[in-house]
Amino acid sequence: MRRIYALVLYSIKLDKLQVTVSKMGKILISPSILSSDFGNLREVIKELDSCKVDRIHIDVMDGIFVPNITIGPVVIASIRNATKIPFETHLMIEHPDKYIKSFADAGSDTIIVHYESKHDLRKTIDMIKSLNKKVGISIKPKTPFNAIKEYLPYTDLLLIMSVEPGFGGQSFMEDSIAKIKEAREYIDKNSYKTIIAVDGGLDIQNSKRVADAGANEIIAGSAIFNSGNISQKINDFKNL
Ligand code: DX5
Ligand code: ZN
Repeated sequence: MRRIYALVLYSIKLDKLQVTVSKMGKILISPSILSSDFGNLREVIKELDSCKVDRIHIDVMDGIFVPNITIGPVVIASIRNATKIPFETHLMIEHPDKYIKSFADAGSDTIIVHYESKHDLRKTIDMIKSLNKKVGISIKPKTPFNAIKEYLPYTDLLLIMSVEPGFGGQSFMEDSIAKIKEAREYIDKNSYKTIIAVDGGLDIQNSKRVADAGANEIIAGSAIFNSGNISQKINDFKNL
């Protein structure tokens, strides 16, 4: 009798675990090409295509919002036909609203703008939606989660920065974990569909904790491209 009781309890526990796992879904992997070889960008994209990553993360920097300059819509357009994998374009620029259309036309599938940029965020969101692109909002490490709560009903992806934006290869900021948990709880409580992505300083070890805290998507640059074996490292991330 005792045994049967224990078995029933065990299977209820298993059921609960399965519900939690299926609710979270599998973790999405989005390599950030910032740390890749820009001289061979097309080959890089083809390699990511063969690794069947979920998304490709493209960092756009203007030298004003962040102290670094990267690429613009022309380059994105030129690599667009190398893969069908969705592009998520992370705009670290001062006036994103001026360039949304160019990045949409270049082939971005998700356009991520910063809460801290100089724009009317509600208008920028509408602009992205009117172009039939997914909306992403990013917050820097010092910006509290509270700041963007009101925009979540219109947001497909919340990007929590776990380093100061601007450069690859920085160290993960541990206090991001608390922010991820806070976001997860709030999004679940309100049944929003927004997915949580985390960007900056991620490797296999801290990605496990980030996923446990409630993130849906891992963005990693240097951990993948400086590993010496891109496909092996991507597999390691997939098996988190
Ligand atoms: C930083 C960028 C990140 C960066 C991540 O401003 O937004 O996407 O490429 O690179 P790692 O993984 O090296 O921190
Ligand atoms: Zn990024």
